Amino acid sequence: MKRIITFGTFDVFHVGHVNLLERARALGDYLIVGISSDQLNISKKGRAPIYPYTSRAKIIHSLRFVDEIFEEESLEKKAQYLQLYKADMLVMGDDWKGRFDHLSEYCDVHYLPRTPSISTTELIEVIKEVP
Ligand code: CTP
Repeated sequence: MKRIITFGTFDVFHVGHVNLLERARALGDYLIVGISSDQLNISKKGRAPIYPYTSRAKIIHSLRFVDEIFEEESLEKKAQYLQLYKADMLVMGDDWKGRFDHLSEYCDVHYLPRTPSISTTELIEVIKEVP
């Protein structure tokens, strides 16, 4: 039984998120997703998420290739989360390439290519511009 863990905000859910989660799950047997708290998103991206944690969590938890979710409260706790959830592999999009290599003392660390041409930030900008 190989346990995969990944982290993200997953705000304004889009196909790039689906592709990442689907491929992460295919690398093992059980997928755990740490979803950023609203406060963590504010400190990470300088703005509140459009959807609050409860809505983002409900969407992610409803996916058939996601087995378990939890609220990620601090970026500094990654090592603790990996141990708590007994992760065998950490999977992240390659916008984070290299940034989690130091966690390889706890589990394998693997980066997946991002889906081109879509991101939450760009979607918010496009929606804002609609007259
Ligand atoms: N992701 C992806 N392909 C995309 C967008 C996101 O593979 N086109 C992945 C990220 O690499 C990350 C996960 O989805 O592993 C969650 O990313 P998140 O930051 O929540 O989404 P973004 O759309 O990148 O949000 P933002 O534009 O606000 O940074």
